[in-house]
Parts: sequence; C-alpha cells; structure tokens
Amino acid sequence: MRPSEAPIPLFEKARELYAIARLKFKTTYDKTRLECFIHSLFQDIEEYNRYLLTYSHKSLYESKVFEIGFGPRPYRLLALIGLGIEAWGIDLDIPVLEGTIGQWLELLKKNGLERFLKSFFRFYLFDLKERKELEKSLKMKKGAFTIPKERLWVGDAAELELPCSSFDLIFSEDVFEHIPKERLEILVAKMGLWLKPGGLALIRPMVYTGIAGGHLAEWFPGNISSGLISKKSEPWEHLRKNRFQPNTYLNKLWRKDYRFLFSKHFLILEEKVKYPALGQEWLTEEIKKELSCYPEEELLSNNVLFVLQKPRTG
Ligand SMILES: C[S@@+](CC[C@H](N)C(=O)[O-])C[C@H]1O[C@@H](n2cnc3c(N)ncnc32)[C@H](O)[C@@H]1O
Repeated sequence: MRPSEAPIPLFEKARELYAIARLKFKTTYDKTRLECFIHSLFQDIEEYNRYLLTYSHKSLYESKVFEIGFGPRPYRLLALIGLGIEAWGIDLDIPVLEGTIGQWLELLKKNGLERFLKSFFRFYLFDLKERKELEKSLKMKKGAFTIPKERLWVGDAAELELPCSSFDLIFSEDVFEHIPKERLEILVAKMGLWLKPGGLALIRPMVYTGIAGGHLAEWFPGNISSGLISKKSEPWEHLRKNRFQPNTYLNKLWRKDYRFLFSKHFLILEEKVKYPALGQEWLTEEIKKELSCYPEEELLSNNVLFVLQKPRTG
C-alpha cells in the first residue's frame, strides 16, 4: 500500500508538475543533456562496482544484485541487466515497459488515474527517447538492451519474503525518504537477512533536512542555480514557513535518523554527500540562526550515500 500523500491544491500540483515536465523536456530534447543523464546512470554503476571491489572483494559481474524502488523508468536496473549482471528489483508501481494496450489497462487498474496519466505522457514524450540513448550506450559497452519482465517485481519491498543470503549488493536511489519509518524498520532488518555476510547495501535517500529535502522541484540539485524554474519558495522552506507541499509522501527523516536505523543491522562504512556544496550559498547567517536547531551537517545534506556492510560473522 502506498502511504497517503498530503492533499495538495490542484493548482499547486499542476504548477509543480509543469515545472518538472518543463525541466524534463529540456533534459530529454537537448542531446548533450540526454547523453549526460544516461552517462550518470553508468557512473552510478561504476560507483557500485568500486565499492564492491573495495569492501567485498568482488566485482558487479560476480555479484547478485537487488534494487529497491527502481521507479517508473527502471534504467539503472535495465542497464545492469543489459551489461549481463544478475540483477532484480522491486517497485510499488508497475513500470511502463512496452506500452501495449494490455499494459496501459493494467497500469490504470493498479496505479490509479493520476499515475496512469503521468506515465502515459512521460512514456511518449520522454521514455522512448531516453531508452534509445540507453540502448546506444549499452551497445557501445558491448551490452544489449532487454526488458526481462520477470526480473522487475511489483510490490512493497517491506512485505517481500526472500531466502537469506540471496544477494551481494542491494542498492536504492531516492526511495527511502518515501517509505514510512515503521516500514523502513522492517525493510532494513530484512535487507540484513537478504544480504550475504560481507555483502553491501548502497542506500542513497534524499535527506529531509537538506535544502532539496522538501522535494520542491525548484530546489532539486539540477535546478537550484540553473534559472530554469522560478522560485516561489524560500531556501529550506519545508523547515521554515512550510507553505508548499510536495506531490509525494515524505517520512521527514534526518540524516542522523538514517544513521541510527542502519546501525542496528549494518556497519556504516561511509557516508557520502552527492552535492557537498548544495545550499551553501543560501545558508546566510540569518537562516543559520533561524535553523539553529539543525546541525550544519544536516542542512548541507542532500542525496547521501550510506555504504553499509553486513558483518561477516555473527
Ligand atoms: C523517486 S522514485 C525513484 C525511482 C528510481 N530509484 C530513480 O532513482 O529514478 C521512488 C520510487 O520508490 C518506489 N517505492 C516507494 N516505496 C516503496 C516500497 N515500499 N517498496 C518498493 N518501492 C517503493 C516508488 O513507487 C517510486 O517508484
């Protein structure tokens, strides 16, 4: 079950969707930006490989991999599979894979009208173009683009039952902040069982206390200084005036909360902030004073990669 999302006035929702669509349009229909987007997926994959080699002493190619929350466009997972890596994933929502009539009807039934409409327009405006680029990149890397549906499961990751020690790597990008804390407690404990001893979990939530943590598109890392979206809110609006609600559920966990949650089942080997300077220029003395109950580390967090290892013994 998807956690209830805050009711947002229709106008606000439309405005936020328009901002996101406008940005997506710029990314997808600008060749360089599209190439950069696909390149960034392969950079993530190289990063996973580096961590595995460093801490588990095996490569991605020797690993069994699981993604939590692959999203409506499961490109990382498809890229891994296309490279010949044994990978599976789960998401609450059905992804649009081929765009057949049967699939659209199933999507409408399972994801509801709003998500159906979003997926429908996204598929024809953006997804097909992005896929072509992914296909091209995979070909250049001697891989092949395929969509093995049986590897893309639909359901709540916290409700999944899997054999112990099934995977060498579990990863997740931009998902944990959307899962209620009680469900995360269950999921993180299960991840500890699903990983082999010495296996890694690479979990990168968007931390709530950072400038982008309120999930308003105008503060997203790619937009904050680009001028593509005009700003209606103030920096750290969600921790201050909180006048605008995002079009998604957020559990509002701080970085310290994730640390505490993960430390119950894993060794925390590293924490890496993806955009270390994000928000710095907006953190004036006045705002620092107003937000003095938040340590600076929290305010300057964004996508934080938690590198977690299942202890080898015990
Ligand atoms: C912001 S999207 C991120 C998608 C993808 N990881 C990416 O980086 O593009 C968050 C995704 O997490 C999924 N999600 C949220 N809660 C989940 C849960 N309990 N189990 C599985 N997937 C979940 C949502 O359906 C959504 O597709």
